Amino acid sequence: ARMDSLLSSLVSAFAEEPEGCRTDRFREHVRDVILSEAPDIQAIYKYVSCDCHKYTRNLIFENEDFALVCLCWGPKQSSTIHDHPESDCWLTVVNGSLKETQFPLPSSSFTKPMVPCAQDCLKKGDIAYLRDELDVVHSIGNESEDVFAVSLHVYAPPLHHCNVYCPETGKCNSVCMSYREGASVGRSEEDVRRLLKA
Ligand code: SIN
Repeated sequence: ARMDSLLSSLVSAFAEEPEGCRTDRFREHVRDVILSEAPDIQAIYKYVSCDCHKYTRNLIFENEDFALVCLCWGPKQSSTIHDHPESDCWLTVVNGSLKETQFPLPSSSFTKPMVPCAQDCLKKGDIAYLRDELDVVHSIGNESEDVFAVSLHVYAPPLHHCNVYCPETGKCNSVCMSYREGASVGRSEEDVRRLLKA
């Protein structure tokens, strides 16, 4: 599928169901849209970028309802433990695989190392979902030593801040989430294909 099909289906789905009256049924529908319209890997090439220090966040589209973001994970790169304040978040893997680790949301009086309550290995084509009311926070990471992973994330509404949790104490800090500018400038399709081993 092409990126346009996924985008137009998401734009109509979110426009028809205003924020505040979203049901589990609606969330299932968004999940089905993402799974059935997931773009071919070639449609993602131009959003792929890499950084040897940190995973990259590449914006594909944003309106007031949602943001579609391509995240690129070098070998052994992972996110912090974080939440998604007031946003629903769906993520699907389009290259490689990712590990999602969930932790119970620490209370404000919590001061111990955070202990995971669930772990999931997400393979190409799998989809995961998170929102704050579920009272869990998570980290995502590419455990592979050599495979570059790529995932597509839908945040509704767009997410510009999140709380990052200290694994040793459970204390959190609000941080700004930014996108990488001009993701694929200077990178040929052949370079990207080599990176993705596609
Ligand atoms: C991020 O958005 O930077 C982390 C991945 C996620 O939880 O969606």
